[in-house]
Amino acid sequence: MSANIAEVERRRAAAHLGGGQKRIDAQHAKGKLTARERLDVLLDEGSFEELDMYVEHNCVDFGMDEGHIPGDGVVTGSGTINGRLVYVFSQDFTVFGGSLSERHAQKICKVMDAAMKVGAPVIGLNDSGGARIQEGVASLGGYAEVFQRNVLASGVVPQLSLIMGPCAGGAVYSPAMTDFIFMVEDSSYMFVTGPEVVKTVTNEVVTQEELGGASTHTTKTSVADLACENDIVALLQARDFIDYLPLSNRDELPERPTSDPWDRLEEGLDTIIPASANQPYDMHEVIRKTLDEGDFFEIQPKHAGNIICGFGRVEGRTVGVVANQPMVLAGVLDINSSKKAARFVRFCDAFGIPILTFVDVPGFLPGTDQEHNGIIKHGAKLLFAYAEATVPKITVITRKAYGGAYDVMASKHLRGDLNYAWPTAEIAVMGAKGAVEIIFRQDRDDPEKIAAKTKEYEDRFANPFVAASKGFIDEVIMPHSTRRRIALGLRKLRNKELENPWKKHDNIPL
Ligand code: HXC
Repeated sequence: MSANIAEVERRRAAAHLGGGQKRIDAQHAKGKLTARERLDVLLDEGSFEELDMYVEHNCVDFGMDEGHIPGDGVVTGSGTINGRLVYVFSQDFTVFGGSLSERHAQKICKVMDAAMKVGAPVIGLNDSGGARIQEGVASLGGYAEVFQRNVLASGVVPQLSLIMGPCAGGAVYSPAMTDFIFMVEDSSYMFVTGPEVVKTVTNEVVTQEELGGASTHTTKTSVADLACENDIVALLQARDFIDYLPLSNRDELPERPTSDPWDRLEEGLDTIIPASANQPYDMHEVIRKTLDEGDFFEIQPKHAGNIICGFGRVEGRTVGVVANQPMVLAGVLDINSSKKAARFVRFCDAFGIPILTFVDVPGFLPGTDQEHNGIIKHGAKLLFAYAEATVPKITVITRKAYGGAYDVMASKHLRGDLNYAWPTAEIAVMGAKGAVEIIFRQDRDDPEKIAAKTKEYEDRFANPFVAASKGFIDEVIMPHSTRRRIALGLRKLRNKELENPWKKHDNIPL
């Protein structure tokens, strides 16, 4: 018996050593943790239960039959984050560069299947040289098996990808189909073709970091949602993040006890709107003052800053927040902000997370750049996402709600459940000046008349009462009682039932 136990221990030790101490040291020298060290940070202490530790590759070509490393470059299993079940895979760069073989893919598929069976998130820690080159098509098939599962799991269990090293070629498409991507600054990159190929094909000279580093993907492309300083920060952020999410689309919203009173009044909000309509204010302040303890997990904070998206809690229960940000481009809706918010709204809807929308939007951004790049189709994404969402939707118009953007931003007409406006709300087809210049074009050389007509238009529409008189606004609320009203609203809407007509799936303007 003791010999058997010793054999298990020997095999475990071999698996734990991965590609060997030299490669572990090299990994550390790059400022990266190993696959197992990462799981230690991500999961509750002692909660990790590994699967398939002894799986080896089945390749006999190019000398591979002489080298077998238990685990085959990926550590898989399950564990808990603050006591809640998650399934994980963590690619081990010390073993064949974390490259994906047929068996490596099978291990990932096994945890994905298990997560789907019981309804638990899948967190993938990616650090891989891509397809195991020696295996050829077997590896490509392995990728496709993972892709297929990513798609089937989408909307059923949350999928989070952490990119903690290379992620190149077709390999990028698995993380791309997960719900959220966090990247580590300076040590991770994602691209379909690397700098060498880019240079050959297009003659462009570009570094890995410029082409597909964390900064590029969280500012320019929006492929990733968060850039983190190092491995540990990324893993701790992932722990925080998972706390906001239900375990699956069948699971209840998580509840975290809070000592923040649900009816806390925020007098500061009564004076946050500046006297001039063109002066900005920070919508983050409104959001933080509304949420429990001011905790807000923002996604894509550095991309399309004119819209803010993220998770918070009210009375301990998760909400998704979407808000126009007057500090960036006056909070206008453009292509990037529409795409960013649309995807976020759809995630919330898929997982039963109520959506709070704060509106201060002057309309859609004009210009040939926007029109020629398809603002019509991209703006429609957000409209579509809000309109199809059946989760509780509470909207607060703080100031401007102009034009089509009024309709889009979770208006009553898109089945908003509770549509509130602050006394400072202005709900109109457009700003008074623009409106008057169109309606009274013949008087444009008469500044006095234009000023008088502008005032008349403002008096008529620069308030919430016209919309409220039609029932499009349910109540004009005092800014200081925003949290209280939202908490009460969410309580009422907890048992909301609403279903869209049967269909195979919709056809959102992609
Ligand atoms: C097999 C691989 C490998 C791979 C790396 N290794 N990538 N083995 N298949 N794809 C091995 C190396 O041989 C090396 O083994 C060890 O991993 C570490 O690699 P290094 O090159 O020493 O590390 P580093 O200098 O940090 O460079 C990392 C790297 C580079 C940039 C990822 O290894 C690289 O360019 N690899 C190839 C990437 C690639 O072309 N992959 C295929 C992409 S196409 P030893 O024994 O020396 O330690 C693809 C298609 C997917 O993925 C399609 C899905 C549909």
